Amino acid sequence: MRKRKQQELPARPVGLAAPGRRSVKKIEAIIKPFKLDEVKEALQEIGIQGITVTEAKGFGRQKGHAELYRGAEYIVDFLPKVKVEIVIGDDLVEKAIDAIRRAAQTGRIGDGKIFVSNIEEAIRIRTGESGLDAI
Ligand SMILES: Nc1ncnc2c1ncn2[C@@H]1O[C@H](COP(=O)(O)OP(=O)(O)OP(=O)(O)O)[C@@H](O)[C@H]1O
Ligand SMILES: [Mg+2]
Repeated sequence: MRKRKQQELPARPVGLAAPGRRSVKKIEAIIKPFKLDEVKEALQEIGIQGITVTEAKGFGRQKGHAELYRGAEYIVDFLPKVKVEIVIGDDLVEKAIDAIRRAAQTGRIGDGKIFVSNIEEAIRIRTGESGLDAI
């Protein structure tokens, strides 16, 4: 066997796309407003570092109304909802989904939705840290 001269490795790329780096995800949960405190507590219990909350309005399959007036025909209307956003390492995604579901579920229509997406980059403004170090 021919002995190969050990080659110097290229500089390790930085940024979230670097091989071997865990990915950063965003969870957006649209929930019933009165469930916000429970959801917040459930997320804190699993060690989430930050949360953004936005008042929202929306409708789902029942177009807003069946939640109020069952069986009647109404035009589409928006109902108040709260949007909770958390940015986390991918290792926490399943735990966070479970925590939100457990806290936000009433079993009635309008309980909400959870959306998961990829975050390309995250930067902590004060320190300049990026990626998982920033969250
Ligand atoms: N496909 C969607 N895209 C964006 N937002 C959505 C979507 N579906 C639901 N939402 C948001 O989530 C809120 C709650 O949705 P909701 O729980 O009523 O969904 P659903 O599909 O009608 O389920 P359910 O039958 O349990 O009511 C909506 O008011 C809206 O703000
Ligand atoms: Mg609905």
